[in-house]
Amino acid sequence: MASEVSRLFLAANILLFLVQVLAGRDFYQILGVPRSATKNQIKKAYRKLAKEMHPDKNKGDEEAEERFQDLGAAYEVLSDDDKRKIYNKHGEEGLNKGDMNGDPFSSFFGGFSPFGGFGGQQEQEIPRGGDVIMDLDVTLEELYTGNFVEVVRYKPVAKPASGTRKCNCRQEMQTIQLGPGRFQMMQKEVCDDCPNVKFVNEEKVLEIEIEPGMRDGQEYPFVSEGEPHIDGEPGDLRFQIKQLPHKKFERRGDDLYTNVTISLQDALTGFDMKIKHLDGHKVHIVREKITWPGARIRKKSEGMPNFENNNVKGTLIITFDIDFPKGELSDEDKEGLKKILDQSTKTTVYNGLRGY
Ligand SMILES: *[C@@H]1O[C@H](CO)[C@@H](O)[C@H](O)[C@H]1NC(C)=O
Repeated sequence: MASEVSRLFLAANILLFLVQVLAGRDFYQILGVPRSATKNQIKKAYRKLAKEMHPDKNKGDEEAEERFQDLGAAYEVLSDDDKRKIYNKHGEEGLNKGDMNGDPFSSFFGGFSPFGGFGGQQEQEIPRGGDVIMDLDVTLEELYTGNFVEVVRYKPVAKPASGTRKCNCRQEMQTIQLGPGRFQMMQKEVCDDCPNVKFVNEEKVLEIEIEPGMRDGQEYPFVSEGEPHIDGEPGDLRFQIKQLPHKKFERRGDDLYTNVTISLQDALTGFDMKIKHLDGHKVHIVREKITWPGARIRKKSEGMPNFENNNVKGTLIITFDIDFPKGELSDEDKEGLKKILDQSTKTTVYNGLRGY
């Protein structure tokens, strides 16, 4: 009885699936983007959803796999200008079915796994090409807002060549007869003949997403894009984020530091100023109190976005320096100032460098 029910259930599911396929999926809805979305918006939406919806993260949810595949299909179509055009006009049926069966994941990441997936599962015996590590210079602005950068790589690709080459070499024991009743055993390298190949450089464009909050030294891997190995698997290509120094801001963790010089007048009477942030927005600072050299103002949530959670931002710490006027005041002004400031003239001589 129970199996009857489950069979019925399965049949219903298949029917539902068929109906969905025939009607075509709404790829824009799957990605949660408007029909007018730019390529970057589509990529961003995909990246975000792919992380959330990855089946590894949704164990026990039977539909997770399917939803993940829908997402991959949606991305594959909408990220390709030609396919997107066809889809916009004719829907999913308009697309060549043969194109839709590819692994949606590898097509985007070029084999790159955002979850550190297949790196560790390699077997020891398969020889592997070297890993290539490259610095990727990134501005603080890019690390604040995020960006997509394209990197052209000349990658050696194996092509057939004339002749043969030795391959699958291994050590084998051989017995040599030296004379009657005398033998010698020795190890000998034995190889097969394989069709020859040569490596030809091919241009390949890799797309790298600089995600907001990425840190200096953080690595961005492309699995199997490293040095090829004639008998084995290629190594990985890893981009290492290198944060360029910035003219106005210094980053420490998720906090940003900046220095501002104000006039003595503003230091004494207060000020109202705006600092242009990395994405162009203005940070408003109002102060009524007296500001002394080295005074700090902390602005919460005006630092760098946190890489793990972009909604959380660090603190912006502004240190003030005072620009004192040069020259000399008149006797009258001096008296006036003394009256206003009303400070005792006690001076302290000390060795500040040694902390006394
Ligand atoms: C601010 O000034 C201090 C002292 O001169 C300096 O050490 C620091 O690097 C400056 N920070 C920025 C962001 O310019």
